[in-house]
Amino acid sequence: MKRFSILVWIGLFLSCSLWIGCGASGPTDAEKEKAAAEKAAAELLKVEKGRAEALKAAVKGYETWGQHPKFKGIQKSTDGTHGAYVQVWMNDKAAAVMGKFSGTFPDGSIFVKRGYDDKEGKKPKDFITLMQKIKDYDKPNGGWFTLRIWDNDKNPLSGWAPDKKSGCIGCHSSAKEKYDYIRYLRDLKITF
Ligand code: HEC
Repeated sequence: MKRFSILVWIGLFLSCSLWIGCGASGPTDAEKEKAAAEKAAAELLKVEKGRAEALKAAVKGYETWGQHPKFKGIQKSTDGTHGAYVQVWMNDKAAAVMGKFSGTFPDGSIFVKRGYDDKEGKKPKDFITLMQKIKDYDKPNGGWFTLRIWDNDKNPLSGWAPDKKSGCIGCHSSAKEKYDYIRYLRDLKITF
């Protein structure tokens, strides 16, 4: 019994000193800053995920969208990154500036690309890649939100914020000047 109460006292003493110890110091400024940064990053990720989901919904039926008359139907890819052959569509916002393109596409412009292994388009790749222009978004990279959507949700959405290293914009930046990151225009010197 005596031994038991000594143990209880020791236990009590230890937990009290631990409690006082932690209570007194609290999180340091560095810890607070880290927590705030983590919270901000998690919030930003949530916003970006929302963008990705919204874009996925917005491109339903893209196969009926317009194409550039000089890059219409299935075309040979200039570098084969996403298939030896490709097809590119654009929404009405992008198409609206055709013939009066001033070097930047308007807010809300969307380009969609599907790759194929063959010229006839019988062997499509199982994903599409997309670029969406968003006002005030990622200004150093021209305001383009990038995304890859897999057919039948085979894989999670990729190519967007948490996966920026996939290099979408890195490769597209060779078309930064004059063509606002749109590669087929730059590669084939197509005027828009
Ligand atoms: C190594 C270079 C490279 C990488 C990386 C790349 N692309 Fe492209 N992309 C191209 C080229 C070249 C074209 C022009 C069409 C063609 O020739 O295939 C293109 C075309 C496109 C188009 C049609 C509009 C345009 O710019 O011509 C979209 C949309 C697109 N890519 C999205 C993406 C996304 C999203 C990613 C990342 C997941 C990505 N691309 C990664 C080279 C690349």
